[in-house]
Amino acid sequence: MAHKEQYSRRSFLKISGLLAAFAAVPTSVKAFYQDVKQYLIPKKNVSRLTLNINKTSHTLYVDTRTTLLDLVREQLNLTGSKKGCDHGQCGACTVHIDGERALSCLTLASMAQGKEITTIEGLANGKELHPMQKAFVECDGFQCGYCTPGQIMSAVACVNEGHTGSVEEIKEYMSGNLCRCGAYNGIVQSIQKVAAQ
Ligand code: FES
Ligand code: FES
Repeated sequence: MAHKEQYSRRSFLKISGLLAAFAAVPTSVKAFYQDVKQYLIPKKNVSRLTLNINKTSHTLYVDTRTTLLDLVREQLNLTGSKKGCDHGQCGACTVHIDGERALSCLTLASMAQGKEITTIEGLANGKELHPMQKAFVECDGFQCGYCTPGQIMSAVACVNEGHTGSVEEIKEYMSGNLCRCGAYNGIVQSIQKVAAQ
């Protein structure tokens, strides 16, 4: 009985030691292992995609079911596009595909091959903010900021599409972007400001 207890304790200590050692492995080594694994171990439903995002070409191995939103956030670390609902209902994930607004949570990454994708990170010109970004700052177009990347991407498209004839028209064409903070007045003013430039 005593021997059995000693054995259990020793096993416990060994397993704990192994777990502690694994936890201490640097994140970079773990990331390297994940990278090697994805290249060397063939997986079902994985395909090689080349996507042009913010004027940079990225070649990635992705599960064919991956959405564009998950790809930019989780594989490219472009976390500006937000996952509000993941169901096409809030607009927080809005990006531009070939200059037109699109909900990245409803777009499979594989559908975006060969197209120009712009996320909020690619909107500014270097350190120079896009006029719509400046207008949002100047007109208080946000409060918590969670919906803001999607609002700005939609707002740019709204101006490009010419849907800025009246407050009602702006509200109609921005109705796919929800703001829990209720910053709608500032958002409409931002769009009017840019449309008038
Ligand atoms: S996260 Fe895409 S519409 Fe809400
Ligand atoms: S600014 Fe908070 S959700 Fe829109």
